[in-house]
Amino acid sequence: MKELIEKAEKTHQLSKAEIVLLLENHEIQEELFNAADRVRKEYVGDEVQLRGLIEFSNICKQKCLYCGLRASNKNVNRYRLQPDEIIELARKAKGYGYKTVVLQSGEDDYYTVEKITYIVTEIKKLEMAITLSIGEKTYEEYKAYRDAGADRYLLRIETTDKRLYEDMDPGMNHEDRKRCLEDLKEFGYEVGTGCLVGLPGQTIESLADDILFFKEIDADMIGIGPFIPNNDTPLKHSKGGDFDLSLRVMALTRLLLPDINIPATTAMEVINPQGRIIALKSGANVVMPNVTEGEARKWYALYPGKICVNDTPAHCRGCITGKIKGIGRDVSEGFGFHKKNSES
Ligand code: 5AD
Ligand code: FES
Repeated sequence: MKELIEKAEKTHQLSKAEIVLLLENHEIQEELFNAADRVRKEYVGDEVQLRGLIEFSNICKQKCLYCGLRASNKNVNRYRLQPDEIIELARKAKGYGYKTVVLQSGEDDYYTVEKITYIVTEIKKLEMAITLSIGEKTYEEYKAYRDAGADRYLLRIETTDKRLYEDMDPGMNHEDRKRCLEDLKEFGYEVGTGCLVGLPGQTIESLADDILFFKEIDADMIGIGPFIPNNDTPLKHSKGGDFDLSLRVMALTRLLLPDINIPATTAMEVINPQGRIIALKSGANVVMPNVTEGEARKWYALYPGKICVNDTPAHCRGCITGKIKGIGRDVSEGFGFHKKNSES
């Protein structure tokens, strides 16, 4: 086992069978996390990239079984921020020192190409990097947003297991999802994807495939988080993802894709009070604090137990900076673009 970790640390290559062995083994996990931490330090350094997250609409036309924003959930107050309100939140995020905003929403067709293009154009005038996370769009739409200045796009594959994906996301199609990721790459976005850990019926083999898929598509950023059952969804009685397994998937992703950006996800902190800090010490180098204001923070409820719902953006900025400094790391002053290392 130790040799496998050494091999991954040196060569950044493992076979599927080798990944499975490491995912299954919790005795050796501390060594896995330490190796991922060393690779993180060597390739992306001690600086943590902060991205301000704006959750601008919780209206969604999709029906993902795991997600609290699914169209048929009647127990969530729906909201939409107006384009100028979104731009104002970005301006405030800049005031708190963020260099990037992530604009995230459900799949909400209210936001036409004109509206998103306007939002992106205006925020670019603030000299910020922009990440969009607004779901599956057409080739033309992705092109329009890139032309308007969007830098990055997040679209998790959720799982590379086609059958599981299509069971979990009724009405959606795994080929479409992959087509979106290819289009985004083609337009020169930095592409972020990722998976859920602990979906009902998901196997360790399938998680190994997820990690290999991230490598195959040459992702720039990978977000990994445990599935957290939501009472307002059909999966309310499911078990939910395990923290340590999620961390192992994340650490292995760092070992195999050494120079990418990896966020310490909010879902990690929901199931473990130290989750983001533990993740930062096990391969992660990004945190995405919420900069949405007021009630919207609470109603963007993918899963229960969301952190920071009663805190202000200013408080979170101070809080996370303190936590990062507390582990001897620094907050980056840069835009945090993916610097590809030729060795990887
Ligand atoms: N638990 C954890 N993560 C979830 N997401 C959606 N619902 C849940 C849940 N119940 C994740 C999905 C999506 C991202 C924005 O949030 O992976 O891509
Ligand atoms: Fe929000 Fe700590 S990051 S309270």
